[in-house]
Amino acid sequence: MGLQFEPSFIQEPEHRSKPTISDAGAIPLIDLSSPPATLITEIEGACRDWGFFQVINHGVPFELLERVQSLAKEFFALPMEEKKRVGRDDENPLGYYDTEHTKNVRDWKEVFDFSVEEPAYIPATTKTGETKLQEIRNQWPEYPPGMREACKEYQKAMEDLSFRLLELIALTLKLPSNQFNDFFRDSTSFTRLNHYPPCPSPDLALGVGRHKDSGALTVLAQDDVGGLDVKRRSDGEWVRVKPIPNSYIINVGDIIQVWSNDKYESAEHRVSVNPKKERFSFPFFFNPAHYAMIKPVDELISEESPAKYDEYNWGQFFKMRKNSNFKKLGVENIQI
Ligand code: SIN
Ligand code: FE2
Repeated sequence: MGLQFEPSFIQEPEHRSKPTISDAGAIPLIDLSSPPATLITEIEGACRDWGFFQVINHGVPFELLERVQSLAKEFFALPMEEKKRVGRDDENPLGYYDTEHTKNVRDWKEVFDFSVEEPAYIPATTKTGETKLQEIRNQWPEYPPGMREACKEYQKAMEDLSFRLLELIALTLKLPSNQFNDFFRDSTSFTRLNHYPPCPSPDLALGVGRHKDSGALTVLAQDDVGGLDVKRRSDGEWVRVKPIPNSYIINVGDIIQVWSNDKYESAEHRVSVNPKKERFSFPFFFNPAHYAMIKPVDELISEESPAKYDEYNWGQFFKMRKNSNFKKLGVENIQI
């Protein structure tokens, strides 16, 4: 049995998806095979004006994405007791679950998460109130066969693309290209396979409620159904991101917002659901090590432009979710 509609999925009226979403003024489309100078200008404009863009000619083999797409489809079609064999629990946030909430409203989706590092470590609070590092492990299903290999290969391609984008973004800030690279040793990066089943009440529920991504960068593949809405900075209008075959959608997260001292802002987005069609999307969350300390880059602060954020620890943020910086950023939930 799949998701059953119930009151916990109902959004407040002002946050529901409207059928008349503006399609004009789409997020920028960037050809990653362009010369470096063009790329830097285009990425700078996209990060400044939108915090979101799509890339084509990115070098990730299409067959790899297709392989993950068909495996994800097979996996989510399994009976619930099979999926629960690799289910998330109190000890391990990785694996399968269908109980994600965003801003206290349940999301109309089911999910399978896996991390780059095996095992990965995140700070956690023990029963006696102390902080310890919790070891978290990927859980791979026996069926469909080949899931682990395909997912790992895909995730490696996402990580490589993320490093390339991170270096380009550093250049747009007039910093050395490798400015941020070391933050991603022992990363807490992970991939999420999202399945949004057809929803009987797409006017009341959302696939993912409005939120900003709290990590550094997100690289997202979506299928041809569509449903990702981005809040346009210029007028606050929700804009649907048109699916483009073999493209990836990139958005800057809160960490880049802090590093850039608000030159770039992470944009609010959400997922609308469809009454007839199921939808699949695969975000890769490019996140630093749990011990990373995040603050505005020294070169980007001055007397005229003082630091807008206090330094914070990324791993503590995972645990606390209530850091005052994140109140400034308007973030109330994180995605792990
Ligand atoms: C997300 O923002 O978490 C998911 C985006 C999508 O499914 O398009
Ligand atoms: Fe997101």
